[in-house]
Amino acid sequence: MVSFFFTLSSFFFFFPLSIHVSSAVDTISANFTLSCDQTLVSSGGTFEMGFFAPGTTSSNFYIGMWYHQLSQQTVVWVANRDKPVSDKNTSVLKISNGNLVLLEGETLLWSTGLTSSSSPLKAVLLDDGNLVLTDEYSNSALWQSFDHPGDTWLPGVKIRFDKRTKKSQRLTSWKNVEDPSPGLFSLELDESTAYKILWNGTTQYWTSGAWNGQSKIFDLVPEMRRNYIYNFSFFSDATESYFTYTVYNHANVSRLTLDLSGQIKQLSWLDNVKLWNLFWSQPRQQCKVYAYCGSFGICNDESQPFCRCPHGLRPKSQRDWDLQDYSAGCVRKTELQCSRGDDVIQFLPLPNVKLPDKSEEVSGTKNLTVCRSDCLRNCSCEAYAHVESSNRCLVWSKDVLNLRQLEEDNSEGNNNTFYLRLSASDMPSAGSSSSGKSNKAVIVGGAVLGSLGVIALVILVVVSLILRYRRRQVTKSDGSTLAVFSYRELQNATKNFSEKLGGGGFGSVFKGGLQEDSSDIAVKRLEGISQGEKQFRTEVVTIGTIQHVNLVRLRGFCSEGNKKLLVYDYMSNGSLDSHLFTNQTAEEKKTVLGWKLRYQIALGTARGLAYLHDECRDCIIHCDIKPENILLDSEFGPKVGDFGLAKLVGRDFSRVLTTMRGTRGYLAPEWISGVAITAKADVYSYGMMLFELVSGRRNTEQSSERVRFFPCLAATVVLTEDGDIRSLLDPRLEGEVDIEELKRACKVACWCIQDEEGHRPAMSQVVQILEGVLEVNPPPFPRSIQALVENDGSMVFFTEFSSSSTHDSSQKQSHSPSSSSSSSSKKTTENV
Ligand SMILES: *[C@@H]1O[C@H](CO)[C@@H](O)[C@H](O)[C@H]1NC(C)=O
Ligand SMILES: *[C@@H]1O[C@H](CO)[C@@H](O)[C@H](O)[C@H]1NC(C)=O
Ligand SMILES: *[C@@H]1O[C@H](CO)[C@@H](O)[C@H](O)[C@H]1NC(C)=O
Ligand SMILES: *[C@@H]1O[C@H](CO)[C@@H](O)[C@H](O)[C@H]1NC(C)=O
Ligand SMILES: *[C@@H]1O[C@H](CO)[C@@H](O)[C@H](O)[C@H]1NC(C)=O
Ligand SMILES: *[C@@H]1O[C@H](CO)[C@@H](O)[C@H](O)[C@H]1NC(C)=O
Ligand SMILES: *[C@@H]1O[C@H](CO)[C@@H](O)[C@H](O)[C@H]1NC(C)=O
Ligand SMILES: *[C@@H]1O[C@H](CO)[C@@H](O)[C@H](O)[C@H]1NC(C)=O
Repeated sequence: MVSFFFTLSSFFFFFPLSIHVSSAVDTISANFTLSCDQTLVSSGGTFEMGFFAPGTTSSNFYIGMWYHQLSQQTVVWVANRDKPVSDKNTSVLKISNGNLVLLEGETLLWSTGLTSSSSPLKAVLLDDGNLVLTDEYSNSALWQSFDHPGDTWLPGVKIRFDKRTKKSQRLTSWKNVEDPSPGLFSLELDESTAYKILWNGTTQYWTSGAWNGQSKIFDLVPEMRRNYIYNFSFFSDATESYFTYTVYNHANVSRLTLDLSGQIKQLSWLDNVKLWNLFWSQPRQQCKVYAYCGSFGICNDESQPFCRCPHGLRPKSQRDWDLQDYSAGCVRKTELQCSRGDDVIQFLPLPNVKLPDKSEEVSGTKNLTVCRSDCLRNCSCEAYAHVESSNRCLVWSKDVLNLRQLEEDNSEGNNNTFYLRLSASDMPSAGSSSSGKSNKAVIVGGAVLGSLGVIALVILVVVSLILRYRRRQVTKSDGSTLAVFSYRELQNATKNFSEKLGGGGFGSVFKGGLQEDSSDIAVKRLEGISQGEKQFRTEVVTIGTIQHVNLVRLRGFCSEGNKKLLVYDYMSNGSLDSHLFTNQTAEEKKTVLGWKLRYQIALGTARGLAYLHDECRDCIIHCDIKPENILLDSEFGPKVGDFGLAKLVGRDFSRVLTTMRGTRGYLAPEWISGVAITAKADVYSYGMMLFELVSGRRNTEQSSERVRFFPCLAATVVLTEDGDIRSLLDPRLEGEVDIEELKRACKVACWCIQDEEGHRPAMSQVVQILEGVLEVNPPPFPRSIQALVENDGSMVFFTEFSSSSTHDSSQKQSHSPSSSSSSSSKKTTENV
């Protein structure tokens, strides 16, 4: 009665559970032990436990617990966090001497650590993810994994504060993607009933605020109010206090995790798109996590990866950086010699940064020149800054933590320049332009060099793949083929990735040319793919079979170790945003997209999406519709790009969605309220984009005094009887428009951005409306848009849904796209 994973093939990753659920055991007892590829599966089939190797290059094994039914292995608990097993065949988890123990050979690696028990014990994996060690006869629990959480707070777990010992239990992040041992970030409850997140057990960088018994929320987490998925409760008596939560509907798979990023994250599993949706996290900005990029590392909330080293410095440990642990920070490429001369030591100016913490202020008022010479004269001075307002110097002689890149138009009013001491030889050469550019080159170079180590480890895999795919083609199910490229070929084709076409959350795109048929290609270099080789290939082949005149064609791919690239047809007119949002110079005025063209782009995009939603074998939800992902061919024919990436990118997808600036404006409210995502989420984003096609500007424009939010204005005009609909039009079109088409476009856009998914039309209906086949009624005012405006446009996460119906979970029933499309489209047709 054991599920043996003899065949760890992707087959099992893709179609887990149902095939082999019948033969699972959930109990380790005196005569049943766990070793090799055996696993325990909880009685309801929710959780599974056994040996696993985290990441892709690690050869360490751990006893872990994960969701049995999910296609992505998501580990929620690890027994031997800091004592890995190197050979799982000679290791065993068993009951021994009144404990559950993990042995490798004769060596004891982990134990439940109980002292006295004479009667026989058993360990049962329960369906809520709790591993409970009980007395075989009395069934009284002696130890349970819920009392020893790792980085994941499952529903039902209590993170306690013990009032007698004044000790807190802790949730601790992993060290890096391949090492579950306790990292630097931890979450704990304090005496004042507030949870706080600490760095290295000492420095607090976030707190929930105290529990408010009246409103049943933590004071600083007001968004708990608009929850209707969880049952929150806080308990306190003379001996202990704790907070816990449960999920009302057990079909909802949800977890709270203290992530490697140092953020606490609430995620829910979206079964139709097969990914974890991150819908709440704190601190909301990555760079608010204390010392995230380590000493001298520069954090930037608007880029991926978030950390980089300044020019002239390199990651202290490239391997750690590759595994997403940036805490060791950066070191100078050339160590400083303690010397006084300007010829050997120079200062690298870093403009537009938030100054690091813990400066030492030098007494007396001094000008910039004096600050510099003071620092130069003192060998322990690492960096300095001059505060203009008070005419003082700040100097740093130890760690330089929390250096943060600010936007050029930053509102923090802090435009002090930070000067970093560098060896003259590491200074950017006079010829090289802005420091930003050369830094990027350094980072890319560093990353390439650094990944060599990792590459060495996976070289065997790569070699075998190259041999296996000599023929360089995979046959798709429809008989056509997808080319398999080697990294070298793509390197040549793109002239070593020299011509960058764009960059997004998932990687940069480069222009290239193929010699064989002298055609142009666009090569997307994916970053942060967490998928295994086979799963990646399967997904890519699936994407390759999806073809439509309004979808960018995938021609092939490359997969060598962690080098994952996709090869697409090249679209000579670039992406829609570059045509819509250009600054109006005289030169560009000529190339303004005319109304007819805009309408055709809107229609073509709608057709492409309708095809993805309705006509592919499985409904594909794009998840990331925005002008950057609409590409224009030589005739300005629109083609939707980047579809299928959600599944391909996997676990980090929604993180990227919610952290990248600009993208949030296109996200439907359901992304952040934690309910299921359907194709209607794309409809919402499409509606947002349609408004931008009309106005020729970003929906949200932040001028110094206020936020202008176009959809709100548009909705108001559309809903006013004699509203001047022409006033919504891009002024560059000088009124040249088909007024009927403009009306139709504005109305349909307004329907698309309704809060209730059921009120939004299906993409196929949008097509019909734009074609003029279907009439469109005046839309209702989208409520959350109103809230968005009242909240300054930036606080999407705080959007309170004012209507009662949105709160009511009975009305919020999620429709699986396939089964519900008929019911929801009926509903919409009534409205439309
Ligand atoms: C093994 O364990 C099962 C259930 O605990 C028990 O019924 C059985 O008698 C045990 N067999 C031996 C050989 O101890
Ligand atoms: C462990 O055992 C499996 C089969 O039981 C075998 O295929 C594998 O090679 C073994 N691994 C090691 C490291 O011996
Ligand atoms: C964390 O704190 C310990 C002392 O509590 C110290 O030894 C260690 O260096 C600190 N780690 C970092 C990364 O600063
Ligand atoms: C919510 O949780 C509390 C404590 O666990 C429990 O007493 C209560 O019945 C739950 N409420 C609902 C509606 O499930
Ligand atoms: C800075 O101050 C020093 C001494 O106080 C003075 O000699 C120097 O001229 C000043 N430099 C500038 C640019 O004001
Ligand atoms: C050099 O800088 C350190 C740290 O700021 C300071 O403690 C020390 O007094 C300085 N030495 C001199 C000679 O100014
Ligand atoms: C920022 O710098 C500019 C020019 O360097 C200056 O005019 C402005 O006053 C500075 N702003 C602040 C808040 O220091
Ligand atoms: C959770 O369950 C509710 C009620 O069945 C459903 O409406 C919602 O979409 C589910 N959420 C997720 C993320 O699956």
